Amino acid sequence: ATGYIAKFKVWRGDTEGGALEDFEVEVNEGEVVLDIIHRLQATQAPDLAVRWNCKAGKCGSCSAEINGRPRLLCMTRMSVFTREETITVTPLRAFPIVRDLVTNVGFNYQKAREVPSFVPPQDLGPGEYRMMQEDVNRSQEFRKCIECFLCQDTCHVVRDHEDNKEAFAGPRFLMRVAELDMHPLDDAAEQGLDRKATAQEEHGLGYCNITKCCSEVCPEGIKITDNALIPLKERAVDRKYDPLVWLGNKIMRR
Ligand code: SF4
Ligand code: F3S
Ligand code: FES
Repeated sequence: ATGYIAKFKVWRGDTEGGALEDFEVEVNEGEVVLDIIHRLQATQAPDLAVRWNCKAGKCGSCSAEINGRPRLLCMTRMSVFTREETITVTPLRAFPIVRDLVTNVGFNYQKAREVPSFVPPQDLGPGEYRMMQEDVNRSQEFRKCIECFLCQDTCHVVRDHEDNKEAFAGPRFLMRVAELDMHPLDDAAEQGLDRKATAQEEHGLGYCNITKCCSEVCPEGIKITDNALIPLKERAVDRKYDPLVWLGNKIMRR
């Protein structure tokens, strides 16, 4: 197949406001949306702001919305669209605009800082840790995260309710809490930090009503809801409200 001319609408603007701008731009076989944005910079809009680094789906920088769906610009092939349709590219909606397609994702760094880090067991030295492969595998899935923040942008809890940002850490950081809470060597509980309680009380786990939109947009295919959020909810609820689990725990300990 040969090249063709595609119709694009790209949001241009800054903190003062902005609008969609129309472009007609050449597309060649095998290109991704980021190629087209780069062609616009090279030919028609030299000052168009876009954030990117790897062009390989690994740095998590090129997050934006294409036809209203949160996606990586570098991993979205032009071939998924028909030649006739107009492709609309807009910045992530849940975060404040810097300029054009670039948003300020500082909210996510703030939430990252609020999750206490791994607490190593006091009586083990570095190199003495031993983990079952099964436990390693569980963390490994969550460690594939490239911090693109598409899940954070998608989750309706903040996307549709800006004022929830204070109370809700978002799927990426609740997943981090879940990872640490499931970690067999994390000693937080023994050292006075109840991660399940903080998940509920400080990171807003209760706001998540398991709609799974976060998992659907994750470019790494991490099952955020099924493998992190639901298990964390179950563990947190067991701890607090379930009398049978409470009784079970008492009997088990005898
Ligand atoms: Fe991106 Fe997935 Fe990590 Fe969320 S969990 S920040 S969608 S890679
Ligand atoms: Fe939001 Fe994902 Fe929960 S989209 S509501 S964090 S399942
Ligand atoms: Fe790195 Fe797209 S440029 S993920």
